Amino acid sequence: MQSRRLRKLRNRLAVAVAVALALGALAGHATAASLNATGAWALAPVGHAPTPPMGWNSWNAFGVNVNEARVMGAARALVADGLAKAGYRYVNIDDGWWLQRRASDGRMIIRTSLFPSAAVGGAGLTSFRPFTDKLHAMGLEAGIYSDLGRNVCSQAWSPDNPNLPVGNRAEREVGLYGHVTQDISLYFKDWGFDYIKVDACGIAHYGANGAGGKQGKFRVFPPLMVDQNTAQSNIPAVRALYARVRDALRAVRPDGRFVLSLCNWGAANVRAWGKDVGTMWRTSTDIQANWSRMLHSFDSVSTREMYSGPGRWNDPDMLEVGNGDFDQHHLLQARSHFSLWAIEDAPLLIGYDLRKAPQSIIDILGAPEVIAVNQDPAGNQGVLEYTSSDYQIIVKTLSRRGEKAVALFNRTDEAAKIELNSAHLKMVADAPITVRDLWARRDLGSFTGSRVFTVRPHEVLMLKVSGKPLLASGYYLSEMTGRINVADDGVLVPEEDPTIHRPLDPYTGSTGSDGTRPVYAGWGDPRADSTPYDDTLRIANVSYRYGIGALANSRLQVQAEGGFTRFSAQVGIDDTTRGRAAPVRFEVYGDGKLLAVSRPMHFNEAAAPLRADVAGVKVVELIARQIGTDQGAVVVTWANAALE
Ligand code: GLA
Repeated sequence: MQSRRLRKLRNRLAVAVAVALALGALAGHATAASLNATGAWALAPVGHAPTPPMGWNSWNAFGVNVNEARVMGAARALVADGLAKAGYRYVNIDDGWWLQRRASDGRMIIRTSLFPSAAVGGAGLTSFRPFTDKLHAMGLEAGIYSDLGRNVCSQAWSPDNPNLPVGNRAEREVGLYGHVTQDISLYFKDWGFDYIKVDACGIAHYGANGAGGKQGKFRVFPPLMVDQNTAQSNIPAVRALYARVRDALRAVRPDGRFVLSLCNWGAANVRAWGKDVGTMWRTSTDIQANWSRMLHSFDSVSTREMYSGPGRWNDPDMLEVGNGDFDQHHLLQARSHFSLWAIEDAPLLIGYDLRKAPQSIIDILGAPEVIAVNQDPAGNQGVLEYTSSDYQIIVKTLSRRGEKAVALFNRTDEAAKIELNSAHLKMVADAPITVRDLWARRDLGSFTGSRVFTVRPHEVLMLKVSGKPLLASGYYLSEMTGRINVADDGVLVPEEDPTIHRPLDPYTGSTGSDGTRPVYAGWGDPRADSTPYDDTLRIANVSYRYGIGALANSRLQVQAEGGFTRFSAQVGIDDTTRGRAAPVRFEVYGDGKLLAVSRPMHFNEAAAPLRADVAGVKVVELIARQIGTDQGAVVVTWANAALE
């Protein structure tokens, strides 16, 4: 009797564990079972964008009122104003170009009243080839727009627009759903596009009660993704749909010359998996040309430094430089917005009608030394080295040793004195640190130790500094995030990041029920020089300025490429841990071989040193393995983690 009950219990337990593992695997979460060093760099580039893509997009300037004259006007301005030379290459059509999907064979038809050069032949035969040929002849590249679902954003949200797709229900289904191979081949092979932005309204807003569904004009699409609600989103399904687009692109462009821009507004936890599926991925809902909304977009990306790197970019949305709060009467704000995007390695996509651009706006968009920060080949996103609700210091490690870009950001309405010190920069305190103002393009002398800068209200002081690095050789891992792949994040249930600035919701105002809370998962993901919950790194009451904070059951890959000889860190359970019961073992692998391991570390136990010889190693893997279960998430710290 006793043993039968025990057996039953054991069986039930085994089933429960199997289900939990399967669920975890489905949601893309680390489970102890999947936590193996692979020895191989797990990221294959999606398309080609070794530095953040730069270009122009029609949406912020024209909304759904896009047409050929407007787009070509922007293209000509990019060339004439020197912006093309400064790096802006992509000219992207957003929502609004379509007439319908041809009934006979599903081929997409362009609205030739808007794009006259697309009328290339008999009835129903349209092509963007003349348009992309023109752009290519100007030395530019061409971008197009579609949606993951059957229907698109404008059909849901701009029902009165006269230029919406026409015809019967099937003819008005202009999105990729059910047509991925056909459309991608048409856009990239026949029409010659180089870049595609794939929106997500079709899988989100066409449920029976959605903005598209309620109109009764479209086929109902039960939402796979609920904007503002991670738990109600079918994360694996959304990811799989984007992965199909990626695979279709790889098939038509085997040389990898394409950009795939995921536009699902930071929902469905895309901030964790965008790197595996897209070239860039939106981290927030739409930016607008006002200060508060810009802060919201910026905050959605500023804690995501571990996810971005060469070929994979966090996208806080397109630029509003030139528009609204960032127009020629607000040049300081425009420079701030541009500086923040530059230092965060955001794609720089101009959203302004360049045909009317005053020189002051062109000068901002073309600022060579600020653009150089964004396009630095190391691809290390800026890291928040100091942050409060008022001021922030963002530091980006540049590829030339000893050089860093620094943004001193005054978020308040009053002038501020912000002190920058050598510790923010990971530089030695008693050697001179030289400073250059990247907007004024002027050297500001040098300092040792620290220096106070006066920063005007809403200003970002954008500097480049050079000094003597604290480490005689190599880097702290938090200085080389462009080489890190978060292979497993250790997050069991995606949680929303509460640190993001809350603006008035642009669609529902103050009366909407769901508009004002931050709704992007990412809380608990690994961070540089911070715990995963945005605290100071601290083990047994000793705080550490530098290091990587993560949850247990995480695996980080570092692309060392044989360039280092030694890994070192001090490891332990962070004082901010939610679970205090389970110990954690810290393991270091080199190309799949175990090189060093800590003893099981417990809460409140002093940090233990961990060192490994990594000479010749291509991929270093750091695994924090939780031993047993815990009621809460276990937070770990790889303090002072460095490759020298
Ligand atoms: C969504 C996107 C925007 C834009 C519009 C077009 O809102 O986030 O960037 O593409 O759709 O309708």
